[in-house]
Amino acid sequence: MRIDMPKAVSGILKTLQRAGYEAYIVGGCVRDALLRREPSDWDITTDATPGQVQALFPKTIPTGIQHGTVTVRRQGVSYEVTTYRVDGVYEDARHPKDVTFTADLSEDLRRRDFTINALAYNEKQGLIDLFEGEKDLKEGIVRCVGDARERFTEDALRILRAYRFAAQLSFRVEDETHAAACEMSGRLVMISAERIRGELMKMICSAHPERIIDLYEAGATAHFFPEWDLCMNTPQTNPYHCYDVGKHIAESMRAIRPDPVLRLTMLLHDIAKPQTRSVDADGTDHFYNHPEKSADMAREIMKRLKYDNATIRRVTNLVRHHDMHLGRTPTKRMIRRMMHEVGREDFPLLLEVIEADNAAKAPSCRAEKEEELARIRLLHAEIEEAKDAVETRDLAITGNDLIASGIAPGAVIGRILETLLEEVIEDPSRNKKEYLSEEGKRLYEVYV
Ligand code: CTP
Repeated sequence: MRIDMPKAVSGILKTLQRAGYEAYIVGGCVRDALLRREPSDWDITTDATPGQVQALFPKTIPTGIQHGTVTVRRQGVSYEVTTYRVDGVYEDARHPKDVTFTADLSEDLRRRDFTINALAYNEKQGLIDLFEGEKDLKEGIVRCVGDARERFTEDALRILRAYRFAAQLSFRVEDETHAAACEMSGRLVMISAERIRGELMKMICSAHPERIIDLYEAGATAHFFPEWDLCMNTPQTNPYHCYDVGKHIAESMRAIRPDPVLRLTMLLHDIAKPQTRSVDADGTDHFYNHPEKSADMAREIMKRLKYDNATIRRVTNLVRHHDMHLGRTPTKRMIRRMMHEVGREDFPLLLEVIEADNAAKAPSCRAEKEEELARIRLLHAEIEEAKDAVETRDLAITGNDLIASGIAPGAVIGRILETLLEEVIEDPSRNKKEYLSEEGKRLYEVYV
């Protein structure tokens, strides 16, 4: 068994070994290489201390010296070289209180989370596999190294990591590990929002986003995303749906490409259905105003999990409009209006969202929406081709042009531009400087 590694990586291993130290690639890169997946980064572990590593390489950055990590730069790429560690007692299920270095590789591997991540390799010694990680890789199993309760006590984020790796690799979580996760999921309240968000995103952008259901079953989502648990328990008995809310959301995530904004939009698009559900006399479920309410809830959830403002804005916008109906015969004018409301950039994403939402509904009622979408797409392409204006910056006139034509600067300029845009959306042939300038002056007279 041989692992092909980048020249720079084998170069770093050789430099360490020639100086009399042990050195291996370790963790995720060994796992991914054995699975024939492209490793995202190559981590190196060694018995050399951080100071000894710094002395050996010309370009180093002391990234996390207190944790034993030195970044070595080679041909513009960064590689993390970490001294074998035995972590001390974890103070708050997050940060090891103190880190002790060790000269024994097995001590280092023993403190790692899963058998499939506790593999080390170099060209001389081959694969170092002390916990049957290779067997678990072959069988598709995520299993903690040693006692699962100990591993989750050291770092509760590992509970999410177990199901995230299972989702990314199409693996199953081994029974003991699953039982420990169920028992200890309450410890997730100690984990920072940023770390939880990282794992959640890796899971929902994986090949199996629907496995967020496993997190619900392990009792984990209850501690950072309780809104999801409500969805898992909300039926939708009506002609449009064949799944309950949770399963519908999970299927809709599967139906869209693994872009973070799109997957997050699907995760949150119906999040307010439990709160908006009403049952009529026939026993049919309704969810009035759920897109608006879901957008509000989505914003709160994303704030809580510390998403950046740009993501919050885009996802909220898409969630709010996900139930757009343009009917059997959408016109270009209707589509331009919608593009104005949603924004030119987000509109194509909205079409993807609507398509994925539809794909997760009852098969009997999908065709109509598919036809509507196909017509919208055709007309949307024509609108883009013609460069029709849908935002004020697309107008053939600017605020400065209006001021130059004699209109006093102030808030009225914005109002005039909006009205001009409405006129142009109705009839794109009006998007001419002379017409807009005259019309601008006329509107000014009306507005002041
Ligand atoms: N690790 C651990 N416990 C954690 C995080 C990481 O034991 N809570 C160990 C594992 O051995 C893991 C290695 O540190 O393989 C590197 O961690 P990380 O970069 O987070 O994960 P990868 O396994 O490299 O996978 P990915 O890059 O997909 O996150």
